[in-house]
Amino acid sequence: MNDLVATARSLFAPGKGLLAADESVHTATARLASYGIGTSAEMRRQYRDLFLGAPGIEKSLSGIILFEETLLQKGNDKKSFPHSLAARGIAPGIKVDGGTEPFSSSPNEFITTGLLGLSERLMEYKKQGAVFTKWRAVIRIEGDQLPTASAIHENAKRLAAYAKEVQAAGLVPILEPEVLLSGKHSRVRARAVIEEVLTTLFAVLEEHSVDRASVILKTAMALSGSESGKKDTPDEVAEDTVAALLGSVPRQVAGIVFLSGGQTPEQATENLAAIAKQARAVHAPWPLTFSYARALQEEALALWQGKEENVAPARAALLARLAKVSAAAS
Ligand code: 13P
Repeated sequence: MNDLVATARSLFAPGKGLLAADESVHTATARLASYGIGTSAEMRRQYRDLFLGAPGIEKSLSGIILFEETLLQKGNDKKSFPHSLAARGIAPGIKVDGGTEPFSSSPNEFITTGLLGLSERLMEYKKQGAVFTKWRAVIRIEGDQLPTASAIHENAKRLAAYAKEVQAAGLVPILEPEVLLSGKHSRVRARAVIEEVLTTLFAVLEEHSVDRASVILKTAMALSGSESGKKDTPDEVAEDTVAALLGSVPRQVAGIVFLSGGQTPEQATENLAAIAKQARAVHAPWPLTFSYARALQEEALALWQGKEENVAPARAALLARLAKVSAAAS
């Protein structure tokens, strides 16, 4: 096993998963504002420290995905965030895409930017201590019209180009083609779209000779759209999600992580538990775990409110949720 494969596999240590703490400055600002919390760079640093500095997170977290701003900041312990995580056995990762823009051939869809200058940035991130990276593409479902095959293909090409550069730089790539929850679509439609997106992605990775063994896939679960009026049971989600993955993801990938995508913390926990159970039942070939942002952060943020005196209860809520999500994954 080469070093990259070993690093990728280590993120799937039993009972552990990832925290996505890689909201862009724009998204982090909006998230904090929605809780009535101030939005200065210092508030964002305190926001990151609330999670990254919480004692005991290493019991449930194998890695944390950071945003560039955080990679360069220090925690309250005066150590750089990536070094303080590594010292506790948590692998630091970095989101490297530059966000999305409307796709010129289909302006209601999005295409991810960030390939320009990527290799130079990767060298810098590596120097700062990052060992893995993430690139997010978004896929929108609207009736039978969206997504278009060309948006799926263009996003897959960029994910492949990203993965190739990241592997050449000696870092592990997480590929995240997120099929969005928003919309009126059925769970069956979400399942079909996930399968189509992933089938295209792995075909394009093959054409670009990307080494699959050190690739981590980050995917949404197959869920009815948030405006469909339908609430799926965990067993329904598990059956359709695992079926979509079995139909499209090669057995060689290092593993699959799930995003929470707007589910409540409780839904994201229950659905993950059902998926893990279903994957075991059908002897799915890849390890699975979580890579949640909102489902791990929501409860803690609501308690914190940006106040020093609320750090302890907010961290206790984080640890309680982490314990439940870790149990769900294993
Ligand atoms: P959510 O878990 O909030 O969907 O975020 C995961 C993520 O990394 C989105 O890019």
